[in-house]
Formats: sequence, C-alpha cells, structure tokens
Amino acid sequence: MRYSEELIDEVRSRNDIVEVISGYIQLKKSGANYFGLCPFHGEKTPSFSVSPEKQMYHCFGCGASGNVFSFLMQYEQLSFPEAVQRLADRAGIALPKRELTGKAKEEADLRQKLFEVNKLAANYFYIQLKSPKGEQGLSYFTGRALTDATIRHFGLGYSNKTSDDLYRFLRGRGYADAVLKETGLFTYTEKGVFDKFWNRVMFPIMDANSRVIGFGGRVMGDGEPKYLNSPETRIFEKSRNLYGLNFARSSRKKYMLLCEGYMDVIAMHQAGFTNSVASLGTSLTEQHAAILRRYTDTVILTYDSDGAGVKAALRAIPMLRNVGISTKVLNMRPHKDPDEFIKAEGREAFEQRIAEARNSFLFEIDVLKRDLDMDDPEQRTRFYRETARKLLEFDEPLERESYIDAVAREFFIPKDELAALVNRMGLSYGTGSRPSAGANARGSAGMPEQPVKMQANPRKRREDGIRQSERLLLGMLINDPTDFDKIRGIIGPADFQDPVYRKAAADVFAQHEKSPDGKVLPAQLLSRYQAEGDDAQEIAGLFSEGMAASLRESGPKALTETVRKIRKNSLDVKLREAGDIREMQEIIRQQAELANLDLG
Ligand code: UTP
Ligand code: MN
Repeated sequence: MRYSEELIDEVRSRNDIVEVISGYIQLKKSGANYFGLCPFHGEKTPSFSVSPEKQMYHCFGCGASGNVFSFLMQYEQLSFPEAVQRLADRAGIALPKRELTGKAKEEADLRQKLFEVNKLAANYFYIQLKSPKGEQGLSYFTGRALTDATIRHFGLGYSNKTSDDLYRFLRGRGYADAVLKETGLFTYTEKGVFDKFWNRVMFPIMDANSRVIGFGGRVMGDGEPKYLNSPETRIFEKSRNLYGLNFARSSRKKYMLLCEGYMDVIAMHQAGFTNSVASLGTSLTEQHAAILRRYTDTVILTYDSDGAGVKAALRAIPMLRNVGISTKVLNMRPHKDPDEFIKAEGREAFEQRIAEARNSFLFEIDVLKRDLDMDDPEQRTRFYRETARKLLEFDEPLERESYIDAVAREFFIPKDELAALVNRMGLSYGTGSRPSAGANARGSAGMPEQPVKMQANPRKRREDGIRQSERLLLGMLINDPTDFDKIRGIIGPADFQDPVYRKAAADVFAQHEKSPDGKVLPAQLLSRYQAEGDDAQEIAGLFSEGMAASLRESGPKALTETVRKIRKNSLDVKLREAGDIREMQEIIRQQAELANLDLG
C-alpha cells in the first residue's frame, strides 16, 4: 500500500526543512537562505545552503541536494517510507497503518526473531562463561587482562564443549528450525543440527543501537581458525557494521580510533579509549567510511604494525579521504597491535602515540620510501617523481605548498627541487584535476608556460553545455514563474533533450499551469518521484543546480540566451531527423528566426 500524494505532501509541508536540518547541523541565516557545513562531505567553509522558500537544500561543494525527505534518507540512511514515517511522527500526523502484506510481513517477523535469538544466545554464552563449565573461558579472558566489568560491558561469553547445547536451549524456548537456520549459529547436517561455536570464547557483535547481530568466537590458545565469525544474515551485514561503534558513537571525542581486532577494541575501551572501533574481520568498506563520517571527521588508524596492517592502512586512507575524513596513522612499533601495546606500555604511552600520530600523507610517502633504495639514483628519481605526483593530488595551491614544505623537511629533499618537479609535472597533467591514468604518457616538452586544463571530449562537452542550459532554464522558471509567460509558444518540455530532464520539465510546466499563483514547488515534485521509487537524486540535483545557476546568471539577456540555446539545439536534432526537404526548410526558417529572439 502506498500513501497518497496529498498525504505525502502534507507531511512534507508540515516539516519545515530549516527546522529539520537545524536538528542535525548548525545553520546560519544569510540573505534569504541558511548556510552550514555540509554533512555529506568534509569541508571547512560552509557551502551547504537551505532555502526556506523552496524547501530545498543544496551543497555547492559536493552537489548533494533535495527536499526534507531526501535529507533524512541521505543522512539517516532511511528508505523513503521510513523517512515519511519519521517526519509524520515529528509533525504529529497519523499515517494510515501500512498493513504489511504476505511476504513483507513474514520478512519483518523473521528479522525480529533473529534479533531475539541473537540476544538470547549472547545471554546464554555469558551465563556459560560464569558457570563452572566456563572456567577455562573465564581464565582465558582474565589471562588477557580483561576485568569483570569489561567482560560484562562487552557481554563476552563462552560456548561450551557440548555440540548442540545452544540449539537445544533455543528449541526449548520455542524457536523453529525455520528461524534457527537463518541465524547462522548452527550447522544443519543429515546427522543432525550442531552448534557452530563450541569451546570458544565469544564476542557478541552489536549494531550501532546495541542490538546483537552476530558473534565472533576465538579459540583459546592456538588453532584454526583463530576467530570464527557468524556468517552474514538478514540482520548482520559486515560491510555496514563496526565493532564497538555502539559505545564509541557516544564517546564525545573529536576523533575515532580504527583498529583491526575485537581484542584491540576491548583493550582500548578498557584503557579509556572508548572512541575505538574495528571493521569485522573484513577490510574497511566505503559504507564503513560513510558511517564513520557521521560521527567524526578525523580517524586515527591503529592497525597492526605488520605488512598486512600497513597494506590495510594504505587502502583505508583514500577511502576515508573520499568521504571527507582526514586520517592519521599511529606508530605501534615495536608492538604488534593496540592490545599488546597497551599491555606492554600502558595507557599514557598510548595517549602519547595518539598525540604523535602521523599525517596520513606523510605516512604514505614514508611507505613508498621503505620499498626503495635511496642510494640507487634510478630508484631515488622514482621516489621523487612518485612523491611529486602524489603532491599534485592536492587541488588547493596553499595546501600543496605546505605539504611540499613538510615532505621536503621530513625526507631531506631539497625543497626547491621538489617544488620545481611538482610544477613541471603539473604542467603536463594540467593542475586542478587529479592526474588521471594515461596522463603520464604526455611529456612536458612543448607545453605552454601556464598550466592547462585537460581537454575533455568536445562532443561530450557540448552535450553537457546543453544540459546545463536546460537545468538553468528550469531553475529560472522555478525562481521566477513570470518567465513562463515570456516563453509561452516559443519553447516547451519537448525541446528538452535528456529524457529525465524532459520529464522533469513536463512536470514543472504542468505544475505551473495547475497552481493558482503559477508557482512551482520543486520540493513537492521531488516527493512525487521519491514516492514512485524513481531516482529522485538526479532530479533533485537538476532542480537545485538550476536554481542556483539562475541566481548567478540573472543578467537581462540570460533568459533569451538560454532559451535560444536550447531551442537551437532542439531544432538541430529535428533537422537531423527531418524526413523531407520542406520540413527541413521550415526548421531552418525557425532557426533563422531565433536570431531575433528577445524575451526582455
Ligand atoms: P588478528 O589475527 O590480528 O587477531 O586479527 P587479534 O585481534 O590480534 O586477536 P588476538 O589478540 O590474537 O586474540 C584481527 C581481526 O581479524 C579478524 C577478527 O575480527 C580479528 O579480531 N579475524 C582474524 C577473523 O575474523 N578470523 C581469523 O581467523 C583471524
Ligand atoms: Mn592481538
């Protein structure tokens, strides 16, 4: 069942976008709009704007945009119906019950049961640990210097040596095989059903809301595999969960510590570093990075000091950078991981290492250097070139300057030489854009003095130009509906080339016709796309970029020029498709007329 368009729009209009967004980020009024730091990418100066009049937001930095529903969907990672529900609650609007039907209801019930079973299992393992049967497990934890309080805090447990104890316990609680099968806690064979975990110490894995979603189980002593983990289930998605996040999210520290293991998280929390998390037996994913960005803009990597840890760090750094997190790397040596470090040197020493954590860029350069022999001229040149190439990735000249400074100082490279090399390579790449694959092939000989931008494919550029004009026109119409009167009979939705843009244009024109004062409400149009499950993101971008552009380009000739460009392109397309000479002549006549167009 779907909510009606009217109801959705009521929910939308009763949740003022400025008020809602102010609950998440700080907004300041400037002119007609509000500005703040964009929550969807990292930035130091506000480029995120919210328009109370249009009920839309738009980030000039990363292009994120939309209405109040899109904001919640993007920020809280909700589906559209969930966002509607949330905002209806906020406004005190009662939504008709969406009776879940057949399959959807079954699915929701099953998920609910999986949460219950995991929680019961965690309790069960905990009780086992504290029972006589669990003595070996308890002394393992004590041997690893965990206190009773820590064991309780993390809900640690023990799976005993009986091969189907947990299974019988849960069956006794009335859970059917259909449910138990889906928990990933059991092995179903022809000979019977067995507990997957036995004779292991157990680490319940919790989601950000402290619901148990799976387990890691460690052998006591040596044995393979060292850690056995729950498989992914309907409620356990490894790429979206971080161990320890349920505690770390409320630690109120400015940064987060990211490590590799369960024991590392626990040891750090026990030592007071309650802002540490680990990815779960998998390498960091883009989703992990995006989730971390909700809580912090700085991550200190406390990965193992071995080769694998360094490799993992090199992978994580750009991933975190992509979501706007700046990363530092903690030097763990001579110890292997945070758990061992803290056990050997204590919390103050670890605190000190946090303070000394190295900027990720210098870390990357350092790793690069480790593999090369600086006494070999060829390898040294390679090091310089590679370093210069990486320095070029900084788009901001000032930032690049200061990194050239730092790198020169740290790695004993004459600064002028490095700067000159960076400049030379910048000429051949074209600055401002990241060096792309293939750009290397172009030498610097014969290049102009000033850095040049790389030339994009001209055909593609022209198409982008048209799209830009189409966006601009829609933006103008939305911002100033009196423009509709000026263009009537001259241009219409059919003149828009991109199918998505054409559909959006048709809706904008239709809404103008229907509304009593001729006004267009992009936020309302958008919620219709969202409700229909269309990709509203592209249309949101189209509207808000168009509106922003129309505010920039408000000269007297802007409307005329824009209409002329779109119409000319549309006639060009028609001309290519024209069937006979008379049709062609008519199109050419219309094109000639365009020269006289003046929309005032
Ligand atoms: P490590 O091998 O570094 O273990 O694996 P550790 O955390 O230092 O564990 P201890 O101190 O020996 O108890 C790091 C993480 O990789 C995952 C686990 O999440 C572990 O915490 N892992 C490791 C597995 O999932 N399976 C394995 O067999 C090993
Ligand atoms: Mn360890």
